[in-house]
Amino acid sequence: MAKDYIVKDIGLAGYGRKELDIAETEMPGLMALREEYGSAKPLSGAKIAGSLHMTIQTAVLIETLVALGADVRWASCNIFSTQDHAAAAIAEGGTPVFAIKGETLPEYWDYCDRIFHFDGDGQGGANLILDDGGDATMYILLGARVEAGETDLIADPKSEEEEALFAQIRKRMEATPGFFAKQRDAIRGVSEETTTGVHRLYELMRDGRLPFPAINVNDSVTKSKFDNKYGCRESLVDGIRRATDTMMAGKVAVVCGYGDVGKGSAASLSGAGARVKVTEADPICALQAAMDGFEVVLLEDVIGSADIFITTTGNKDVIRIDHMREMKDMAIVGNIGHFDNEIQVAALKNHKWTNIKDQVDMIEMPSGNRIILLSEGRLLNLGNATGHPSFVMSASFTNQTLAQIELWTKGDDYKNEVYVLPKHLDEKVARLHLARVGAKLTELSSEQAAYIGVTPEGPFKPEHYRY
Ligand code: NAI
Repeated sequence: MAKDYIVKDIGLAGYGRKELDIAETEMPGLMALREEYGSAKPLSGAKIAGSLHMTIQTAVLIETLVALGADVRWASCNIFSTQDHAAAAIAEGGTPVFAIKGETLPEYWDYCDRIFHFDGDGQGGANLILDDGGDATMYILLGARVEAGETDLIADPKSEEEEALFAQIRKRMEATPGFFAKQRDAIRGVSEETTTGVHRLYELMRDGRLPFPAINVNDSVTKSKFDNKYGCRESLVDGIRRATDTMMAGKVAVVCGYGDVGKGSAASLSGAGARVKVTEADPICALQAAMDGFEVVLLEDVIGSADIFITTTGNKDVIRIDHMREMKDMAIVGNIGHFDNEIQVAALKNHKWTNIKDQVDMIEMPSGNRIILLSEGRLLNLGNATGHPSFVMSASFTNQTLAQIELWTKGDDYKNEVYVLPKHLDEKVARLHLARVGAKLTELSSEQAAYIGVTPEGPFKPEHYRY
């Protein structure tokens, strides 16, 4: 049989496997699910099209889904986030994976297409999507609309991304007429990993365009209050260091946005000794930043004096070309939000670029000042480093796995809306991670539980509690 994977070097599989073995020791939630469900195989018959950073941690997720009975095909959700040895280990283990660190945009959308072809080339056949950022979901839904006659949707690409996406949709429509509608109708649900993808799902629901149920994994407390926050607290500075080897201590760093990712990012930089300033649009988050000890500023007021600028907003045009022109010589600019449009990278294209190494560029401004741009504005903790550590990803991916089981086994009970997992499962995810950090949980007596209005087994908080 022809090989059904695209990886950089299958020879890296041995190295990947060794790191996978280590990661498993740090991912107790996923390993517990293998133990709990490995013989019942609740995902038997599930064909999961996965689009999520193809890292070592994701490899442990993939092998968990397979251990629970699923057929899986995988691509990365960012051109720079693949760890080639992780992809190789997954390919060698027999799961089709299409991911190379540094793949081109046309390759990215080709690989996104390939995750749907369970029944052979161009045949579709996925029945679940596991998404991060919403690109795989969007590929199918946009393709189906174009196929149904809304060709103006792909007539006028506004970016290189859109150009590559629209070309891929055209290619698939020509090769397999009716593919997108057939594939859309076969999907029983999607579980979505991140803030930006969840935002897209709520928009689809609001517009009446969500054709299947969706589980918002991001807003499990054990995801966004851990991965987004504590994950970034470890991986942001890791990315800046691997890219630049710059001294953090004493530098002035600006963090744009003080949501979950911003909180972790500011903590990461201040933990490394940087003097951190924050920009915010939301008064609540701005006040939180101030009371956590960070000066809350306007970007314009610090643009010429800060050394490091990091966007964490999930918004667009946060650091603009006029900002970058005012930065001091050798300022470092990077983004840790999901998409690269937080920084106006396209506007830098006609400047002088000097590539320093993979995912690190020095760009000369008209004034002669240079900036160091990380991962071309794509999320730098995955582009310049290896993303979050295994332990925190275990919590995220335990939620993902529970979401996939829920959609596959009880999908019919859900409407075409966006749901979060129930609190007892959120608490279960946390519980599965306590022993690894030596945490001992206090048990409430039945009198104590009754006094605060809960049961000794939980849930311990009302739905509106914010943690
Ligand atoms: P969030 O909604 O909690 O926080 C974003 C914050 O940015 C909000 O408080 C908002 O008021 C603020 N903001 C928006 N526009 C702004 C502007 N122009 N200037 C200053 N502040 C502004 O979202 P969260 O969960 O922190 O996620 C942020 C982004 O990071 C999303 O794109 C998400 O998908 C991504 N993400 C990336 C991860 C990574 O490992 N790189 C991990 C988790 C999430």
